[in-house]
Amino acid sequence: MTADSMSRQREAVREDWAGRAKHWDNRADQVAEPAERMNVPLIEAADIRSGQTVLDIATGAGEPGLTVANMIGPNGHLTMSDMVPEMIATAKRRADEQGLTNIEFVISDMADLPSGDAQFDRTICRFGLMFCPEKPKAISEAYRVLKPGGRAAWMVWASKRDNLSFDIIDEAAKSIFGADNPLHDLERPFSLAAAGSLEALVRGAGFECDGEQDVVLSPKLPADKPFWGPLVDMAAGRARDAASPEERAAFDAEVERRFGKMITDGKYHISMHSRICSGLKPA
Ligand SMILES: C[S@@+](CC[C@H](N)C(=O)[O-])C[C@H]1O[C@@H](n2cnc3c(N)ncnc32)[C@H](O)[C@@H]1O
Repeated sequence: MTADSMSRQREAVREDWAGRAKHWDNRADQVAEPAERMNVPLIEAADIRSGQTVLDIATGAGEPGLTVANMIGPNGHLTMSDMVPEMIATAKRRADEQGLTNIEFVISDMADLPSGDAQFDRTICRFGLMFCPEKPKAISEAYRVLKPGGRAAWMVWASKRDNLSFDIIDEAAKSIFGADNPLHDLERPFSLAAAGSLEALVRGAGFECDGEQDVVLSPKLPADKPFWGPLVDMAAGRARDAASPEERAAFDAEVERRFGKMITDGKYHISMHSRICSGLKPA
């Protein structure tokens, strides 16, 4: 990939997330509980403990950083970083609301971190690496800023097929807003879906690594309470906002129709599949 095309991709990602930020700000608190279920295995894989210095990369609206800030306590220090100021503003709002004081906020591209070498005990990144056009560089940057003996952990989505809500929302968006709608990114979130692709990157940067861990959640949610409003806004809010009222109504109906097919025994049966890989920087 040329430097020009890399830079165009980076700008496209930045613009996309700046546009999505208002939906993430509106919805982040509503999805905090399911988000926490995804935080737990990542935090365990990173071996986060009280008193550590931690960098949360691509923190977005604050996951899993806010949980980590509580865990590391007043003697620990968390840096929440993201490339998009509009996203990190939500993390800051939520941190302030929780009265957290052990956090600093940094706007930075994960492929070009502003921190000096060997600053952190841990780096974590939940659902951010997939969007970076310079993935090997991003992983090398995490390696560089870790202390020897430090640990990094990443979490990425497995295939769209195994993540039913995304599949439904994307298929509905494709059918109503078009497959090449520039306001709806159908591919990037799944750019590390292939088993082993994350591990190869982590090993390639010099980390010692025990392989990838699959995280599969299969929630069954009451059919009388449509649950997907926040997910639709966070995933497809940009394209939906720009659509005509008729298209918006058609999209909403299509989403409802597709989720309706997932009902068995009075419950929506949903599947979520992600992968974690953690790496140790040799001491
Ligand atoms: C799906 S959100 C994940 C946010 C949060 N970690 C979570 O799991 O809810 C992706 C985030 O990655 C950020 N991002 C994308 N590319 C980035 C890059 N190259 N460097 C830093 N942040 C990036 C976006 O701004 C966005 O906030």
